[in-house]
Amino acid sequence: MSDQQPRLWWQNGIVYQIYPRSFQDSNADGIGDLPGIESRLDHLVSLGVDAIWISPFYPSPMADFGYDVADYTGVDPIFGTLADFDRLISSAHRRGLKLILDFVPNHTSNQHPWFLESRSSRTNPKRDWYLWHDAKPDGSVPNNWMSNFGGPGWTWDDTTQQFYYHSFLKEQPDLNWHNPEVRAAIYAAMGFWLDKGVDGFRMDVLWLLIKDPEFRDNLPNPEWHPGAASFWSVLPTYTADQPETHAIVAEMRAVLDKYDQRVLIGEIYLPLPELVRYYGVQENGQLDGAQMPFNFRLIQTDWNADPIAALIHEYEGVLPGGAWPNWVLGNHDQSRLASRIGADQARAAAMLLLTLRGTPTIYYGEEIGMTNGRISPDQVQDPAEKNQPGIGMGRDPERTPMLWDATPNAGFTTATPWLPINPDHPATNVASESADPRSMLALYRRLIELRRAHPAIHEGEIHDIRSKRGVLSYTRTHPNSPDRFQVLLNLAHDVQTVNCDEGHIVLTTIMDGAGSPVGGPITIEAGEGLLIALD
Ligand code: NOJ
Repeated sequence: MSDQQPRLWWQNGIVYQIYPRSFQDSNADGIGDLPGIESRLDHLVSLGVDAIWISPFYPSPMADFGYDVADYTGVDPIFGTLADFDRLISSAHRRGLKLILDFVPNHTSNQHPWFLESRSSRTNPKRDWYLWHDAKPDGSVPNNWMSNFGGPGWTWDDTTQQFYYHSFLKEQPDLNWHNPEVRAAIYAAMGFWLDKGVDGFRMDVLWLLIKDPEFRDNLPNPEWHPGAASFWSVLPTYTADQPETHAIVAEMRAVLDKYDQRVLIGEIYLPLPELVRYYGVQENGQLDGAQMPFNFRLIQTDWNADPIAALIHEYEGVLPGGAWPNWVLGNHDQSRLASRIGADQARAAAMLLLTLRGTPTIYYGEEIGMTNGRISPDQVQDPAEKNQPGIGMGRDPERTPMLWDATPNAGFTTATPWLPINPDHPATNVASESADPRSMLALYRRLIELRRAHPAIHEGEIHDIRSKRGVLSYTRTHPNSPDRFQVLLNLAHDVQTVNCDEGHIVLTTIMDGAGSPVGGPITIEAGEGLLIALD
C-alpha cells in the first residue's frame, strides 16, 4: 500500500466523463455537441476535476449512439467539426484540463469503409479484417457466440454467403485483431489524435478484443434462466479475456508511450484478479499494460460496509507492484448512483470515491446528484432496450441531459431534447446548487478541493480499513506530510454510534460541524460521512 514515486497527472488527478449527446447543445438540434462542451468548461474548472473523457463523437450512423464508428479520424456533424475539436482541446488545455478520447477498437460501424470493402467479396484484401465464417452444414450459425444486445452474435451476409460476428449490434461488426493490418490501422488512428494533443484514450471493451481463432463454442452457463438477457445463456469462454489480449494492450501502450505522459484507460468488466492483469508485466522497470484498467467493483458490490471494506482490501491486495489504483461509481451504461443507493448514500459515496486511494472517475451529473430519468416506452432510444424490452437492459435513464438551471429545458437546449429532461430539475441543477452551501455540488467541490490540497488524500497510503455496525472507516496518511485523516462512512440505513480517533472534523457530507473536536464515541446519521483530521 506504500509506493512513493513522483506522481503523474492521471494519478493525482480526477477524471470526469462527458456523454456528448447530453452535456450541452449549442446549435438547437436537441443534441449536445463539441462547442457545447467548450462553453461549459468553466463548470469543470470550478468543480476542480483534472481531465475530461468524452464518449465517442466520431462520424457514425448512431446505431449505438457513436459506439458504431464509421471513421476513426473525424467528427460527426451532429457533434461539430474537426475545427470545433481543435478549439475544444486548446480551450481545455488553456484551462489546465486534460482531454481523453473514447476509442472503440473492438468493432466498427457496418458503414465503415473497411467493412464495406470486407463484405464486398470473399477475395477483397480487407475480407480478413473482420470475423467471417461459413454456416454449419445445416445453414445455421457457426457457433453459440451471443451478442451483448440480445440474440446470436452472427449475422448472415447474402452477397458473400458467410456469417460475420458482432459482440454488439449487427451494425457493429467485430474487427479481427489477429490481423496485423487491423492493428496497424487502429494504431495509426490513435496516432492521429495523439498528434492533435489528446492526453489519452478510454478503450472500449478492451477485454473483448480477441476471440478464439478456432471459433469454439462457449460453455453453457448453468446459472442462466430463460427470460434473463440471452447473452448470458453461455459463458464468454472463448469471446472474452483471451490470453493474447495482453500483448495487444502492450502494443497500444507502446503507441501512447511515444508521447509524453499519455494515459491508457481500459473498459474491463472482470473479477479483480483477472482485471489487474491488464496492468501488464514489468518491462524496463514499468508495467507495460493499461495504466488504468477501470475498476467497476463499487458499482457491482452490495452497498454495505462489510463487502465494501472487503473489496478495498482485496483490490489493494491484488494490485501488482507499481500499479496505481482507480475507482468508478457510474458511467453511461449503469443506473445512476443516486437511483441505485438513494440520495443520502450518494453523498457518502461521493466522500468514499474522493477519499479512497486511486484515481476517481466522476460521471457527468453525479456532482449534482442526478437520478435516473423517466423514459416512457415511446421515448426509448437505446438499442439495448429496444432489442430486449422490459428486462432492465436500457441505458437511456442514465443518459438524460445535464441539468444546468431551472428553466424548462434545464439550460441544455432551446429545442426538444433527444431524451427528456429529468422532472426534478427545478431543484437539482448546477445554478441552484451553486447557490446552496449544503448542496451535493457544494459537497463535491469541497471534497475535490480537499483531495487536491492534501497529499495524504490524493497520493498517500490507505490503512486501517474496517467495517463495524455498518460503518466503513479507513485512514489516509503520507510519509512526507504530517496530515493524517480518518474517514467514517455510515453505509447503513439507521443512525450508528462508533468510536473515532482524536482529531477534528474537516467535512461532513451534511456539511455541518467543521472544526468540531472529536474523539471517542461519535453518532453518525444514515448515509453520513465524516472526514476527520487526526491529531
Ligand atoms: C461499451 C460501451 O460503454 C457501451 O456504451 C457500448 O454500447 C458498447 N461498449 C459497445 O461499443
